[in-house]
Amino acid sequence: MIHSRIAGTGSYLPGSPVSNDDLVARGIDTSDSWIVERTGIRFRHFAEPNQTACDLAEVAARIALDDASVSPQDVDLVIVATSTPDYVFPSTACLLQARLGIAGGAAFDVQAVCSGFVYALATAEKFIRSGSHRCALVVGSEVFSRILNWQDRTTCVLFGDGAGAVVLKASDTPGVLATALHADGSHHGILSVPGAVCGGQVIGSPFLQMDGQAVFKFAVRVLGDVAVEVSESAGMSTREVDWLIPHQANIRILQATAKRLKLPMEKVIVTVDVHGNTSAASIPLALDLALRDGRIRSGQRVLLEGVGGGFTWGAALVQF
Ligand code: ACO
Repeated sequence: MIHSRIAGTGSYLPGSPVSNDDLVARGIDTSDSWIVERTGIRFRHFAEPNQTACDLAEVAARIALDDASVSPQDVDLVIVATSTPDYVFPSTACLLQARLGIAGGAAFDVQAVCSGFVYALATAEKFIRSGSHRCALVVGSEVFSRILNWQDRTTCVLFGDGAGAVVLKASDTPGVLATALHADGSHHGILSVPGAVCGGQVIGSPFLQMDGQAVFKFAVRVLGDVAVEVSESAGMSTREVDWLIPHQANIRILQATAKRLKLPMEKVIVTVDVHGNTSAASIPLALDLALRDGRIRSGQRVLLEGVGGGFTWGAALVQF
C-alpha cells in the first residue's frame, strides 16, 4: 500500500509586520482595540506592488524543498492553492514550476479560497496514493491585499499576504491518515469577489465582499463537523489529536471551534494575531511555524482544517 507523508515545509511573509495602528495611520477609520477585540488580529504583512503570488510561493517552496532534501527534478506534481493568481492563465503552479526548474509532471492551481490548501493537500495525497505520482509540492500563496477595498473597514483590516508550502512524498508508512472535502455553492454570495475580466474591463467588482456574521456562523459549524468527520474516518476521536491547525480567519472562530470540539486552546496553533487572514496560505504558514519552533514533534497527529468562499470546507489528519 502506498501512503503519503509530509517530508518538508517552508513559508514566507513579505515585508515588515503592519500593525493595526499602521492601518489607522494610513487613513482607515478603525482602531487597534476594535480589531483586536473582534478578530484577535494585531499584525499582517503586505506584498510590495511588484510581488506576486508566484514570488511568495517560490520562496516558501525553495525552503520546503530544502527541508525535505528534495531536488526540483524529483517533483512530479505541483499544486498551488490561490485565489489571487498572477494571471487569469497560465496557472501560478505552471509559473512556479518553471521558476523552480521542475520539468514535466503535472502542475495546476486549486481555487477553493481559504480551504484551498486543504483541497490541494487532499488532491496531492490522492495522486500519490494512486501510484501515479511520487513527490508533490503543495503550496498556498496569496496576495489578498490586491483584492481589498481600503474604503471598506469591515473587510480590509482582516487580511494579509503570505505563502506556505509542503513537500508530500510517497511512503511505506502512513502520514496523511484521512482527508475530507466539502462544498455548498448555494452560499456563494456571503464571501466573494464578484468580478470577471471581460472585453478589457472588470465586469462586476474586483474587491472582496463579505457578510461577516453569516461567515462566522457557517465557519464554526462546518469546522466542528469536518474535524469530527476526518478524525472518525482515521479511527480516532478529536481528543486524540495532538494539534489543531484551523484556517486562521479570526480568533473568535478558532476559540468557538475549539470549544465545540472540547479541545483546550493550548492544542490550537494560532497565528491570526501576527499574520491576519492569509486565506489559502494560513494553514501551511501555521504548520511551518509550529514545526520549526518545535511544538509539533515526530509521531504527533495534526488536524488541518479550512473553510472559505464557495462555500468550501475540508480537513486533513496528518501524522508526523
Ligand atoms: N473598525 C471599527 N469599527 C468597525 C470596523 C472596523 N474595522 N468594522 C466594522 N465596524 C463597526 C461597524 O460599522 C458597526 O458599527 P455600527 O454598530 O455603528 O453600525 C460595528 O462595528 C459592528 O459591525 P458588525 O459588522 O456587526 O461587527 P461584527 O461584530 O459582526 O464583527 C467581523 C465583524 C469581525 C467581520 C465578524 O462578523 C466576524 O468575525 N466574522 C467572521 C468573518 C471572517 O473572519 N471572515 C474572514 C474571511 S472568511 C474566512 O476566512 C473563512
